[in-house]
Amino acid sequence: MPRLKYASVARVVVILGLFCLWLQIMLSASTGGMYRDGGQDHMIQVQGMLVKTNPIRTEEELMNANDTSEQVLALVPPELHKYLTVHPRNNSGNSTDRIAVKNITEIKQAIKRFNEAQTIYNEDIFGPVQNDTVIIAIQVHTRLTYLRHLIVSLAQAKEIDRTLLIFSHDYYDEEINTLVRSIDFTKVMQIFYPYSIQTHPHEFPGMDPNDCPRDTKFEQAVKLECNNALYPDLHGHYREAKYTQTKHHWWWKANRIFNQLQSTTGHTGYVLFLEEDHYVAEDFLHILSLLKSTADKSCPQCEMLSLGTYLKTYQYHVNGDKRKKNMNLNYIQQVKLANEQRRKKHENNPTWNFQVYPHLYTATQKVEITPWHSSMHNMGFAFNRTVWNHIMKQQSQFCAYDDYNWDYSLLHLSQNMPGREKFKVIVCKGPRVFHIGECGIHHKKSNCNASTVISKVQKLLQNAKPYLYPTRVSAQVTAGGAKHNKKLVKGNGGWGDIRDQELCTNMTKVGRQHRHMIFYA
Ligand SMILES: *[C@@H]1O[C@H](CO)[C@@H](O)[C@H](O)[C@H]1NC(C)=O
Repeated sequence: MPRLKYASVARVVVILGLFCLWLQIMLSASTGGMYRDGGQDHMIQVQGMLVKTNPIRTEEELMNANDTSEQVLALVPPELHKYLTVHPRNNSGNSTDRIAVKNITEIKQAIKRFNEAQTIYNEDIFGPVQNDTVIIAIQVHTRLTYLRHLIVSLAQAKEIDRTLLIFSHDYYDEEINTLVRSIDFTKVMQIFYPYSIQTHPHEFPGMDPNDCPRDTKFEQAVKLECNNALYPDLHGHYREAKYTQTKHHWWWKANRIFNQLQSTTGHTGYVLFLEEDHYVAEDFLHILSLLKSTADKSCPQCEMLSLGTYLKTYQYHVNGDKRKKNMNLNYIQQVKLANEQRRKKHENNPTWNFQVYPHLYTATQKVEITPWHSSMHNMGFAFNRTVWNHIMKQQSQFCAYDDYNWDYSLLHLSQNMPGREKFKVIVCKGPRVFHIGECGIHHKKSNCNASTVISKVQKLLQNAKPYLYPTRVSAQVTAGGAKHNKKLVKGNGGWGDIRDQELCTNMTKVGRQHRHMIFYA
């Protein structure tokens, strides 16, 4: 009668689980309004749990259910649910117990201390960083919900325990910190971008009250004698702090990882670049090493590895200058949207859905060798110190180029390396990295929200499962489209301010820094 036994054990587990959830609901209800978006999540997850523990639900019913977040949770292994629910401690409703919110001075101090300490969490369990350790650099702003799902996807990846995750933050937040430090499946490090708008709200690199407003005319700005009157961008606009931060942060992070951290002194392996709203397939590290061995064997000029390009899912009802029209969005959303716009302009990819997998995911993985292009190959791409040294040599092409997009700046650099070909990329045709954050920013009414996208990606990967972990690749060499090979002449603007260019350049001048041990009292 093992069946009966299982049933009763399961019943006990379910009842216990429900009791714990009830407790949590009571606790979180009493702290109501404290979470930015965590509270909402929690309820969704509660519903998800109920669905999950109901054995009668079939896959098909789940597919047809209205609440996609139930579907999402159903496909997350139970032991990883903690990453979708972890909150800072001391939020038990007694307001005097809560972590006090830090003021800017305190945040700056904390950032300095963490950056000096260069602490690597879990190093004792997973061993020290080796020279060939894959470093996964994740740029994080404030999109906690997406970050949770990225972590869940990383947790399920094979060989993740041999990597180092470096979370690079431009926003200091205890809830994000608690989540990141709760990761127990590999080595983790946090680095904090020290020139953020959060820590410089009323001075450069934030917005100084005496900075010229974006749309001021040049003559008027000169008359006003505002700070940056002489440095509008190529469109005649003055800098907007929020649009420059992403490029600064990307550049600082790359410099920090390759040039400054003590633990990367002899590092020769790959650094893979991800963002908070990406999602990885469980075999992404396998694919990375397959791309690497393909490059080593048959494409020595392939300096960049890319785990996949964008698959277009959603229509954006957009035209014109989004920078003006979406002022009600928070700034990272605006930046993302502006980037989407730009990407749309440069590409006309067909729409996709998860029926595409038999074509893209096959036992012999198709890869493409092509010139690296910013908007095509900026997601889940990796390079090593050899490439970084080329970038360093031409850093002025990055820092002085009037474009607030780090990827276009890198493309510009790639096209202007004296005596050298453009960077080539070897890209996996069946994507192993997905952009789950492209949706849910604007039209709330439609079913284009985070859960919908995550659920689609989960399903796609489930369907592609028989084709994951391919052992061979078939490579196709392409020249890239004419559009993609066109030499960039003008940038997209937003980077005309001499202060931005100097800050960028100064970031390259910082040398290797030793770890400061922190002794806790
Ligand atoms: C920030 O907090 C610290 C200690 O809690 C306090 O000494 C300091 O005056 C505060 N600074 C500001 C600008 O409020």
